[in-house]
Amino acid sequence: MNFTTSKPQFADEAARNNYILSVAQSLCNGDDDYISNAANIAALIFNTVPNINWAGFYFKRHSRLILGPFQGNIACTNISIGKGVCGQAFEQEHSIIVADVHQFPGHIACDSASNSELVVPIWNNGTLIGVLDIDSPLFARFNTFDADFFEQITDVYARGSDFNSFYK
Ligand code: SME
Repeated sequence: MNFTTSKPQFADEAARNNYILSVAQSLCNGDDDYISNAANIAALIFNTVPNINWAGFYFKRHSRLILGPFQGNIACTNISIGKGVCGQAFEQEHSIIVADVHQFPGHIACDSASNSELVVPIWNNGTLIGVLDIDSPLFARFNTFDADFFEQITDVYARGSDFNSFYK
């Protein structure tokens, strides 16, 4: 029996991105729990976006970033603000695109297969609450269009999720 799964095919990147945005919106319309929505959006990204090996969330807790729902290999659970790509994106309050993680000072290696990375902030009503992190085995996998797109995804996620039980 063959358990290999393949990612869905789309006519082009715009069609794929529209699909991901609409499914993310539907997920957040269907449930507003911030953990459930993060879990499903990580699965949606991981199973739809080509050439990635990790997709997941880190949330701020007690002045650090802690691992949230993700898809991919096991990852570091705890990142200081300002450390690694995630901590720097959080501290600088903007997306960071890393073409070659091996050249990025302070990069935290979780999966040796990762060669490039994109980290996007998650804003909830003007408060930065965490980041979305995506890794690729390809070098220079991500560009500014990807950053813009995944910022739209984190907006859909944050607008459609209830953070009242968020443990700060
Ligand atoms: N590479 C990240 C750490 C998280 S893992 O990639 C899942 C960083 O440097 O912050």
